[in-house]
Amino acid sequence: MKTAQLESPTRTRKCLTEEQIENYNRDGFFFPHRVISESEAAEYRKKLENYEAAHQPIMKTAVRNKPHLVFTWINELIRDSRILDAVEDVLGPNILAWGTNFFIKEPHDDAFISWHQDSTYWGLSHPDVVTAWIALSHVTPDNGAMRMLPGSHLLDQLPHVDTFAEHNLLTRGQEVQVDIDESKTVDVSLEPGEMSLHHVRIIHGSNPNPTDTRRIGLAIRYVPTYVSQISGARDYATLVRGEDTHHNFQLEPAPKVDFGPDEMALHARIAEESFQILYRGTGREYPR
Ligand code: NI
Repeated sequence: MKTAQLESPTRTRKCLTEEQIENYNRDGFFFPHRVISESEAAEYRKKLENYEAAHQPIMKTAVRNKPHLVFTWINELIRDSRILDAVEDVLGPNILAWGTNFFIKEPHDDAFISWHQDSTYWGLSHPDVVTAWIALSHVTPDNGAMRMLPGSHLLDQLPHVDTFAEHNLLTRGQEVQVDIDESKTVDVSLEPGEMSLHHVRIIHGSNPNPTDTRRIGLAIRYVPTYVSQISGARDYATLVRGEDTHHNFQLEPAPKVDFGPDEMALHARIAEESFQILYRGTGREYPR
């Protein structure tokens, strides 16, 4: 499918330079881009870790996915103009946040991510999907930074095999069926408060974290409003900028309070419907 709607050369840029956009178009990713200060990142990290201290590690909970439906501060973050200005330069002015996911690797954690293209099971109509990956800790090759294969977003959708491997953080442990020349991959190192942007077709993965410190990232999946869900299921998104004249997604309300009963009920319903999309064809049932 063509991505011709992606950008008009006459459009005024919000914050990225022509060179940065050329890099994104050529490589399929762009980093580092500072979006919040180190101290803001530390405050956000504290809010997350306060929650975890009172409950359990977020990676063990259902709110690891779509946390913007239950944490007011994450809902504010997905609307932050410092992120959206860069995203608008890639996707245009009418933007939905389709998903959010924490990707945390604990110290001495076996968790890894196999080489994959994000587009494989998402069921979205166009490859015009950008992930803003926000670092809330130092992210280095040593602690399991993402690794990207430059230019691989220009390949079509490639076949994947589901491994359901135990320590794989992906839904199905899906793995792209091509040989990766690891000498050509790029490590996405980030400081707290910096982000990377990556294309939904880029081949990427990451290694475990054998260090003594946590590696914390929040991935926000942005789509232009003309994108739709084509799996046949109903799907949900949050309008974060511009207007939605397409009505392809049920629009999500922002949480009024953290973990209120209405917020939790909505999250549970949407999480179950999203599960049906992401695991379609596997025979797996939603865990209760
Ligand atoms: Ni991915």
